[in-house]
Amino acid sequence: MDNVKKTVFSGVQPTGKITLGNYLGAIRNWTPLQDEYNCLYCVVDLHSLTVAQVPAELRKNTMDLVALYIACGIDPNKSTLFIQSHVHQHAELAWILDTVAYIGELNRMTQFKDKSRKHADNINMGLMNYPVLMASDILLYQTELVPIGKDQTQHLELARDLAERFNGRYSDTFAVPEALTYKSGSSIKSLQDTSVKMSKSDPNENAVVSLMDDKDAIARKFKRAVTDCDTAVRFAEDKAAISNLLTIYSLCSGESIEKAEFRFAGKGYGEFKQAVADAVIAVVEPIQAEQKRLAADKAYLEGVLKQGAEQAGRLARRTLDKVYRKVGLVGRFR
Ligand code: TRP
Repeated sequence: MDNVKKTVFSGVQPTGKITLGNYLGAIRNWTPLQDEYNCLYCVVDLHSLTVAQVPAELRKNTMDLVALYIACGIDPNKSTLFIQSHVHQHAELAWILDTVAYIGELNRMTQFKDKSRKHADNINMGLMNYPVLMASDILLYQTELVPIGKDQTQHLELARDLAERFNGRYSDTFAVPEALTYKSGSSIKSLQDTSVKMSKSDPNENAVVSLMDDKDAIARKFKRAVTDCDTAVRFAEDKAAISNLLTIYSLCSGESIEKAEFRFAGKGYGEFKQAVADAVIAVVEPIQAEQKRLAADKAYLEGVLKQGAEQAGRLARRTLDKVYRKVGLVGRFR
């Protein structure tokens, strides 16, 4: 690893289907960072356990997501690609950070409150601890930049607070991370309700395009997407639905919003929606083909993950040793 380059860390949970929103808003923006920074990209399987999982599905989703990362352009020779649970220091640092995190601040987290409402029958300690584990992911690698969507800024703020609090109490130990937010695409909305983001946990199938959806499903979902009351294909604040579709079209086709408005001037929503679907299909089809090919190549994926866990583990050990020493734990005798 290059010590002059800044460290970037990000992760996605291996739950449900990765959406077009996740791709355009997150994973796609990770690839260009690989040359400029030391990047660590993680499949955060431990976080997934905070809501009920079917073990066999979690296992499959985890490997599928690793294959998808690579299919989306994460190059395991440039970046460290690994599974969170393969580096045991994540859980160990989370424990130490738990001793500096206050119940009050975790209790105020908006995602904790949302998820508690959604999973009222399973408000487990892990759900409350989720942001501490995320802080551990980030701080373990002396991360300086964290590419995240808007919905994660509160969690990053907590990671910063915990780093500063720990540094204040025990002397300088952690780099204090900053969010790396994207110019566009960070908030692709639901196709059915533009007041919410396109989320993989949305129960309405038509609201969400999965990166793994087939052609027909994609065409159907865009056809059914909500629109605004007039008929103009124009980007405007009071036209949230069409603006969302224009954003998707522009990000997938590479054509600017202005050019797209011009192209679809005077054309109906039907034609426009078909064009959006076609642009999306052109982006996802090659990713799907590559993901399938990689997912079938178990030996290759295992090699990547072995290397990733070793690289990440080396860095993680360095930070955790330092942390244990600072808080006064007696080092293990060898
Ligand atoms: N909470 C993040 C999400 O749901 C996933 C995540 C876990 C993460 N650990 C992280 C993102 C560390 C960035 C850095 O999107």
